[in-house]
Amino acid sequence: MNAVSDRSILRICAAFVAAALPVSAAVSGEAVYQRRCAQCHDAGGERTPPRDALKQLSVARILRVLDFGVMINIAYVLNREEREAVANFLGVQREETAVPPQAYCPDRTVTIGASPSPAWRGWGPDSTNTRYTASGGIAFNQVGKLKLKWAYGFEGDVSAFGAPTVLGRTLFVGSAGGAVQALSADTGCVRWVYQASGPVRSAPVAVPNGNTHVLVFTDLTGWAYGLEAETGRQLWKKKPEPHDSARMTGTAAVQNGVVFIPAASWEETRSSNPEYPCCTFRGSVTALRAKDGTQVWKTYTIREKPQQLQKSEGTIGSWGPSGAGVWGSPTLDAKRGLLYVTTGDNFSSPATDMSDAVLALEIKTGRIVWSKQVTPGDVFSGACTGATCPGPDFDFGSSVLIEKLPNGRDVLLAGQKSGVVFALDPDRKAEIIWQTRVGKGGTNGGVQWGMASDGQKVYAAVSDLVRRAPAGTIIQVGLPPDPAQGGGLTALRIANGEKAWYAAPQPCAAKPLCSPAQPAAVTAIPGAVFSGSVDGHLRAFATEDGRMIWDFDTARDYQTVNGVRAKGGSLDGAGPVIAGGMVFVNSGYARNGGTAGNVLLAFGPEE
Ligand code: HEC
Repeated sequence: MNAVSDRSILRICAAFVAAALPVSAAVSGEAVYQRRCAQCHDAGGERTPPRDALKQLSVARILRVLDFGVMINIAYVLNREEREAVANFLGVQREETAVPPQAYCPDRTVTIGASPSPAWRGWGPDSTNTRYTASGGIAFNQVGKLKLKWAYGFEGDVSAFGAPTVLGRTLFVGSAGGAVQALSADTGCVRWVYQASGPVRSAPVAVPNGNTHVLVFTDLTGWAYGLEAETGRQLWKKKPEPHDSARMTGTAAVQNGVVFIPAASWEETRSSNPEYPCCTFRGSVTALRAKDGTQVWKTYTIREKPQQLQKSEGTIGSWGPSGAGVWGSPTLDAKRGLLYVTTGDNFSSPATDMSDAVLALEIKTGRIVWSKQVTPGDVFSGACTGATCPGPDFDFGSSVLIEKLPNGRDVLLAGQKSGVVFALDPDRKAEIIWQTRVGKGGTNGGVQWGMASDGQKVYAAVSDLVRRAPAGTIIQVGLPPDPAQGGGLTALRIANGEKAWYAAPQPCAAKPLCSPAQPAAVTAIPGAVFSGSVDGHLRAFATEDGRMIWDFDTARDYQTVNGVRAKGGSLDGAGPVIAGGMVFVNSGYARNGGTAGNVLLAFGPEE
């Protein structure tokens, strides 16, 4: 609730600042910042990188973000001088360097083959999205002996949040700077790099195309790309969702040469700008042919188009319905011919019946076969005051997992930001089989990026990140995270939802800005489950009883194989990926109360 009222106070402050500081002809970068950026970046709201993080970026990088990147629809009102002034005011003067020649592999051939091995495909590691692999090449007794094998730095970035894919001996991963790279999974040397228009968080997926593969991924400015996986050559680039606030975060699902691309949006955050007509985005899934990007079908999670509800544009809730973004990767059920999709909240009234829901779409046509809403009436955005749209902001931000009950029947598992895990019956229109609370829930709470399951148990880590606020504080946004609250990993029995064990969050070390929250996606292998924390630690727990068997603090400086100065920070977003006897994880997350970093780490057992 606090976040809701904080944002309305913020909005009033922002309006005051806008009136007080008109941008004059002699352009001051600070004035542009105060008028156009401070309302979001000073506060460092949940999804927004704080000003301190922006100060570590190069001037050229900030300009690129304003001209072509995630801030394009904030910056369109600024002329050239204003853009340069604000970039110079914020950033550091630093040359943007190309990949140094010594970072490339001696042999730059990418070989994927007909059935690549080792493999971790997309969000997966397969279409059931259980984030479990029995063929990752790491045995339970090796987990405690995992050592850092190599580190790869993302030049000029303050967050490392791309979800990796491993195919054969090549790892494909995107970055906050929009660089998509094909690396040797063994050594981290570079095979090719492709520069996308915006940050790439989704895992690249590879689709066979004759003797080669099409690598499909999306970016945070709404683009989907098809590259030749073997060379990095661009085959096509399309906008599956034309809305200018689209954020393509979720990884595509794949079947028979067709990719299913989920669309979410940052309109919920963007609407904290009082001049923004909130809100007109609708979540969707678009099916594209992988070989050329042509559309097969498109299905919105809100049936009706948004209408103007109030005359004055800038008023809260002036447009609706909106929202129900699809953040997670769709889960494929080939047997039933269905695609399971989870949705987030509504951004403005009226609330709709497929927000905070699990939907089943027919793979062939995109037709919605059934939908199961678990939190009706959840309207929430940066423009809200407690009265107009109270939230509770209980999105489903992660994918459905397909598992089996002891009686052999299929079950769908879904974790919500409310802190509740649901087991749903796919043969009874997602009737609830059981539901169990594993966290407190909230805007930055509950299950954020996803769970893992191994046939017996489902492992749910929770964020529940809270800001440290002295009693009676009204404005909490921008305050440091509370080092004593948040986190925890619960194992539930798939059979009945009973708690098998609970691994309590580890106390934060004496680091500045530390939180024990565990928002990152969880990953499992036989006997062990991995969970990353905002405090920078990657930990492994025994699936038998939850005891901690390995702990590595990623928040430090690294010598990287590509020569980039890199450091680790918070673990959030895409979780570890395990393939070919290696554990890969990105570290650094300059938002949601986390600390900056720009490194991809690869661990393997000690020889
Ligand atoms: C309405 C809120 C809002 C305003 C106003 C705003 N930003 Fe942002 N900014 C964001 C959010 C949210 C993100 C994260 C985007 C994402 O990843 O979806 C972001 C990201 C960025 C990034 C990328 C950081 C990275 O990790 O690479 C830069 C640079 C940036 N903003 C600069 C600016 C500048 C300069 C201004 C003013 C001209 C500005 N922003 C105004 C909300 C805002």
